[in-house]
Amino acid sequence: MLLINKDTIHNDCVNDEQIPHNPVMVEEVMRFLKPGKGDIIVDATIGAAGHGCEILESIGEEGLLIGIDKDAEILKIARQRLLKTGNPFKLYQADYADLGYILRELKIKKVKGILLDLGVSSFQLDVPERGFSFREEAPLDMRMDRSGGETAGDLLRKLSEKEMVEIFWRYGEERRSRRIARAIVKERKAGRPIKTTTQLARIIEKTVFSSVNYKKRSKVHVATKVFQALRIVVNDELKSLECFLNHAHDFLASGSRIVVISFHSLEDRIVKNAFRKGKSTSTLSILTTKPLLPSDTEIKKNKRARSAKFRVAERL
Ligand SMILES: C[S@@+](CC[C@H](N)C(=O)[O-])C[C@H]1O[C@@H](n2cnc3c(N)ncnc32)[C@H](O)[C@@H]1O
Repeated sequence: MLLINKDTIHNDCVNDEQIPHNPVMVEEVMRFLKPGKGDIIVDATIGAAGHGCEILESIGEEGLLIGIDKDAEILKIARQRLLKTGNPFKLYQADYADLGYILRELKIKKVKGILLDLGVSSFQLDVPERGFSFREEAPLDMRMDRSGGETAGDLLRKLSEKEMVEIFWRYGEERRSRRIARAIVKERKAGRPIKTTTQLARIIEKTVFSSVNYKKRSKVHVATKVFQALRIVVNDELKSLECFLNHAHDFLASGSRIVVISFHSLEDRIVKNAFRKGKSTSTLSILTTKPLLPSDTEIKKNKRARSAKFRVAERL
C-alpha cells in the first residue's frame, strides 16, 4: 500500500486531456451514493477519476475522497484530474481489499459511502503495451499492478492443458475451452510459445472458426472470454472482491451506502450473494433487488457501459 502524493509521482507530464472521460452510470452513482458536503467517501477503484471528480466536487473542501487503485500509471491521471477540483483527497496504490489498513492509517473508523466500479478502465484497454486488448499487438501482460506478479504470458507458458481448460471455463465461461487449450499447447510444443495479444487472438480465431459446431458470428470478438479469464487470474480479481465485500459493512456508518458496478456474471453473482448475506445478518438492506442497467442512450455513447450491472446496499 503506497500513499500517492507529489513525492511518489515521478512523471507528472501525463496529458490527462487525451484520456477518455466517460464514467459508467455516473448519474446513478451520484443519486444512490448521495455524497454531501463534508462526507468521507471511498472510491475503491478510482481509475481515471471520472466518478471520483464528481464525488469530490459534491463533498467540497470539508469532505475527503479516498481513492484506491492497483495501477500506478492510472493514479497519475486521477491525481491530475482531482487536483483541478481544489478539494481534499488521498490516493493509494493498493488492492481495495486493503481498505481496512488504509482507514486505520488515516485514523478513520467509518465512511459515508463506498464505490466499486470493477474491471479494467478504458485507459488500460487503450494503451496497447498493457496487454489487455486483443486488438493491438503487444506483450501479453494484463497486470494492473506492474510492479510484480505473473503476466498472462507467464501463465500461458507454464499452465498445463488441464489447468488452462479449467481457467477458460471457470473465469471466462468459454464453451470451447478444451479446443483452445489444446491449440495453445500444440503451439508451445511446436516451439512457438504464446507471447503476444494478437498471437493468442489468432490462435483462438483459428480454433473457433475451424470448429464444425461453430454457427453464428457474434458481435463480441471470439477471444473476449479467454482474455477475460486470463485477466481475472492474473489480477486475482474475484478473491479481492469476495474478501472486500465480506468486510465492507464494517467501514460503513449506519445509513451509508455501497455501490458496485460489475461487468460480468461472475462478479455480479459475488456482489448479489454478499448483499444477500448482509441482509440475512441484518447488516445491510438491499436497495436494488434487481441490478440497474445503463440506459440505451448511455450504451450508444459509451460501449463499455453495455454489460454494466449496478447494485446498491445500505448499512443498517
Ligand atoms: C473500471 S475502472 C474504474 C474507472 C473509474 N471509476 C473512473 O471513473 O475513471 C476500474 C479500476 O479499478 C482498478 N482495480 C481493479 N481491481 C482492483 C483491486 N482489486 N484493487 C485496486 N484497484 C483495482 C483497475 O486498475 C482500474 O483502474
